[in-house]
Amino acid sequence: MPALLEIVDLAVSFPASDGHGLVRAADGVSLEVPAGTTVGLVGESGSGKTVTALSILRLLDPPAQVTGAVRFAGKNLLELPERELRAVRGNRIAMVFQDPMTSLNPVLTVGEQIAEVVRLHEKRPRRAAWARAVEMLDTVGISSPAERARAYPHELSGGMRQRVMIGMALACKPDLLVADEPTTALDVTIQAQILELLRRLRADMGMSVLLITHDLGVVAETCDLVNVMYAGRIVERAPVARIFATPRHPYTLGLLSSMPDFAGPRRLRAIPGAVPLPGKHPPGCRFADRCERVLDRCRLSEPALEPVPDPADGGLVHLARCINPVPKEALSGPVSAGAPL
Ligand SMILES: Nc1ncnc2c1ncn2[C@@H]1O[C@H](COP(=O)(O)OP(=O)(O)OP(=O)(O)O)[C@@H](O)[C@H]1O
Ligand code: SF4
Ligand SMILES: [Mg+2]
Repeated sequence: MPALLEIVDLAVSFPASDGHGLVRAADGVSLEVPAGTTVGLVGESGSGKTVTALSILRLLDPPAQVTGAVRFAGKNLLELPERELRAVRGNRIAMVFQDPMTSLNPVLTVGEQIAEVVRLHEKRPRRAAWARAVEMLDTVGISSPAERARAYPHELSGGMRQRVMIGMALACKPDLLVADEPTTALDVTIQAQILELLRRLRADMGMSVLLITHDLGVVAETCDLVNVMYAGRIVERAPVARIFATPRHPYTLGLLSSMPDFAGPRRLRAIPGAVPLPGKHPPGCRFADRCERVLDRCRLSEPALEPVPDPADGGLVHLARCINPVPKEALSGPVSAGAPL
């Protein structure tokens, strides 16, 4: 099945802080979102998830430089004329960001904001657009939607505002939703409700989702395929159950080991250190300074993202960027892969 979205060798560069040249915050990123799937992009803070997401719809302003290709429905969005790109934005690809307050207009009611999107993209008359806005609020689980449509963003709770954002993103029935930490700012109960909502809407609308998060618990509950990102690179990719059952990159294992559900009776531990800043990573493998499995040769050249040999694979795509991957036998005990869609 051809991918709905295909990111190929994407690089995002910014001017270096010392003023000399450029540094890459995303570097050679390739990933696919097959139609009808939810694909996760996961990694610690600073790994390059948001710059990757923003590049899809060319939302990064200069001096950021973006190279590579973002193919969507057969076209490279990075080369599309602005007019054609506008037809894709919000219409066929919609985005939801972490903080709804920065994306909602404080001086318009939420109903007006959703109706505006509908009028712009579907050329509906005012009254029909308003009716659709109320319908969307209902769809995203906001009670008394006709009444709430007349509320301003500050009159709603954080969870409701996030639902409004999702309603606005989905009002035009996009083929692809890019959701960047859509639940991080919310408490656990509301987070679970929003994830359930995304799952249901995805099933009902047949949409695909690129879900960006630093939370592997969210990945377990939502994604089909997972890409793990570190220091601007994809370091591991596999179907969700494989990532949880047999993570092969030491970074992925590190992320999982800091999750109580995964650690089970094992020791719960955080990965020491932090993601290096763009341009400041060590030579060779970018994870070398934090890796428990590091070998001398890890520092000589950077490993490629390659299939992990596994005779029991049954054709599953499992890639890792590591010359000394975690052996499968190293993992035993309970793992929680949640219930992917
Ligand atoms: N406009 C910019 N100018 C310079 N550097 C930037 C800019 N935007 C992002 N960066 C840097 O690029 C790196 C990746 O940032 P990005 O926001 O993509 O991380 P992230 O994985 O989304 O992290 P988080 O989980 O905190 O959202 C960071 O080191 C960040 O400081
Ligand atoms: S290549 Fe070496 S340093 Fe990098 S993750 Fe693998 S074992 Fe660790
Ligand atoms: Mg981010």
